[in-house]
Amino acid sequence: MDLSAHPNVVLLEHPLLKHKISILRNKLTPTSEFRPVVKEIAMMEAYEALRDLPTVPTEIETPIEKTVQPMVVGHNLCFVPILRAGMGMVDGFTELIPTAHVGHIGLYRDEATHEPHEYYCKLPKGLEDMEVYLLDPMLATGGSGIDAIKMLRKHGAKHIHFVCIIAAPEGVEAFCEANPDVPLYIGALDRQLNENAYICPGLGDAGDRIFGTQN
Ligand code: PRP
Ligand code: URA
Repeated sequence: MDLSAHPNVVLLEHPLLKHKISILRNKLTPTSEFRPVVKEIAMMEAYEALRDLPTVPTEIETPIEKTVQPMVVGHNLCFVPILRAGMGMVDGFTELIPTAHVGHIGLYRDEATHEPHEYYCKLPKGLEDMEVYLLDPMLATGGSGIDAIKMLRKHGAKHIHFVCIIAAPEGVEAFCEANPDVPLYIGALDRQLNENAYICPGLGDAGDRIFGTQN
């Protein structure tokens, strides 16, 4: 897939990130290791996705003297995981910016149709003035991401970013067609979807692997 047709897509290419994603892909990686690695990856992605974060000149006093230095104001930020799997990414973001707001959107994919279904939505007030970072490790058909962005917009969000770990070309195409203005950060662009709309090679079911609910 030629990503140059989608200037809103940022493929993150750090070797450490690739290494950690390979750990997630390995079917032998147990939940006890999978979950902390998802968090580490989220932290690395946050570093890049928050690159344009504004800072406020703030007076502080070092042991030597008073000085004015840049500080991040987290109250203007909102991190929104798509339940369940997005939950695995939240701590990576909030550990970097503990003062940020956190909202939640609950969506599950119907196993037969692969269509997303909404079951939960709790978002902070004042979303229209915040930079909103939607979090979900997997962008497969794109249906969940597209629906979640609709929900965010319905609640007033105007400045939205989407951070994923693994994306399929089909999902990137669909997402970008629906949201050409939303920056999309991905850690890997995989080959294709299979007949069950799972990403190949992918990592399997992200929610199951994070929470240990597979069989
Ligand atoms: C997974 C994943 C995404 C969605 C991606 O969630 O975390 O939300 O599928 O697929 P899509 O791009 O085709 O919509 P799932 O619906 O399996 O729910 P879960 O996290 O609760 O397991
Ligand atoms: N959801 C997942 O968790 N994995 C996939 O490969 C596709 C959707």
